[in-house]
Amino acid sequence: MPLAVSFARSGLEVVGVDVDVRKVQEIEGGRSYVEDVSGEQLAGVLPRLRVSTRYASLAEVEAVLICVPTPLTANREPDLGPLLESAQALAGVLVAGQLVVLESTTYPGTTRERLLPLLEESGLSAGRDFHLAFSPERVDPGRTDFTLRNTPKVIGGLTEACAERAEALYGIVCDRVVRVSTPEAAELTKLLENVFRSVNIALVNELAMLTDRMGIDIWEVVDAAATKPYGFMRFDPGPGMGGHCLPVDPFYLSWRAREFDSATEFVELAGKINQQMPYHCVAKAQRALNEIGLSVKGARVAIIGVSYKPGVGDTRESPALKIISLLAELGAELHYHDPHVPALPEHNLTSSPFEDALTDTDLAIIVTAHPTIDHQEIAERVGAVVDLRGVLSRANANVMRL
Ligand SMILES: NC(=O)c1ccc[n+]([C@@H]2O[C@H](COP(=O)([O-])OP(=O)(O)OC[C@H]3O[C@@H](n4cnc5c(N)ncnc54)[C@H](O)[C@@H]3O)[C@@H](O)[C@H]2O)c1
Repeated sequence: MPLAVSFARSGLEVVGVDVDVRKVQEIEGGRSYVEDVSGEQLAGVLPRLRVSTRYASLAEVEAVLICVPTPLTANREPDLGPLLESAQALAGVLVAGQLVVLESTTYPGTTRERLLPLLEESGLSAGRDFHLAFSPERVDPGRTDFTLRNTPKVIGGLTEACAERAEALYGIVCDRVVRVSTPEAAELTKLLENVFRSVNIALVNELAMLTDRMGIDIWEVVDAAATKPYGFMRFDPGPGMGGHCLPVDPFYLSWRAREFDSATEFVELAGKINQQMPYHCVAKAQRALNEIGLSVKGARVAIIGVSYKPGVGDTRESPALKIISLLAELGAELHYHDPHVPALPEHNLTSSPFEDALTDTDLAIIVTAHPTIDHQEIAERVGAVVDLRGVLSRANANVMRL
């Protein structure tokens, strides 16, 4: 939707197709279901943004950008179902002269080996009758300093002409376009970016588990290392990786690597370490309760912040959910406060007002540090606090930091 709104704001006529009829109805009604797009922004472009559940509407457009989900199966293998369904439906309406760009995060080879053959079932030939390219989505939800406009857009075309065509299109909404030689290079670029984050987060998380035993404050160490003006990039420890990208995308690369008799050991190790973090955090919570003479069973525990990162309401793969499940299994009486997440239906919980979350609470666990929350007040009001984000000072005697 942010992409569609950007093009419409630039004056282009945009057609949006989604299989989810509710989303189509929301957009038609001028209601945005994406936090980065306000209702006003959406309403402002509605005359130029038409939405539908029918692929037939795409026959009239010059370019089709595919942004469907690329999740994992239950066995943690790439699930290209939505992408293949989308490609099949598009093949039925593809018209000579159109440009097709895949934006979904995926393994190298998807555009050429999976998307292209399905689109050619239309009887049209890629690179000759229609243009084809891959350009990864790089948006960071909730971020305002880097947007679609000022985040360089990487493009890999099937042919030079495909890349030129895609560059001309994205140049309308992006200040800078970076061309790479093939769709595969563009596909791997996105995975490198995400694997880089995943590996570096895992490294600092591994150190956090070690420093916990050594009695060293990991935050102090990270703060000090970050003063080095070169050769170090700051990554903070935390309760594990969340969101729809970092916990998912590395598996796309590992899966593909196996086809080439290669193992992506850094990638897999990072996933393993990051998956351990919620268990480590629950062990800390147990220790914090123990210090005040309580067991987890029957203790009133408040989770502060349940989305996967500050300032947004997205709970996909959020480590808070795992922490809630683990504490519930141990018999804790749980409640949570998150100004961005009104309810967690899968846990049968609704967000308590901040005031209530601190009242009669034995332990508060800061899982996601939203900027609008007064964390110091939590330290002053609750007997024991576990701070998984390093937002509270070590000077608070009742605070145990990650
Ligand atoms: N959201 C982000 O910030 C972000 C950032 C980088 C990369 N990505 C990548 O972009 C892709 C999409 O992510 P998202 O977060 O926008 O997913 P999403 O689930 O929010 O949106 C995808 C939409 O595609 C629709 N859809 C599913 N199958 C379809 C089909 N066959 N035809 C038409 N529509 C269909 C769904 O109904 C949904 O509305 C993923 O590969 C993701 O990894 C997303």
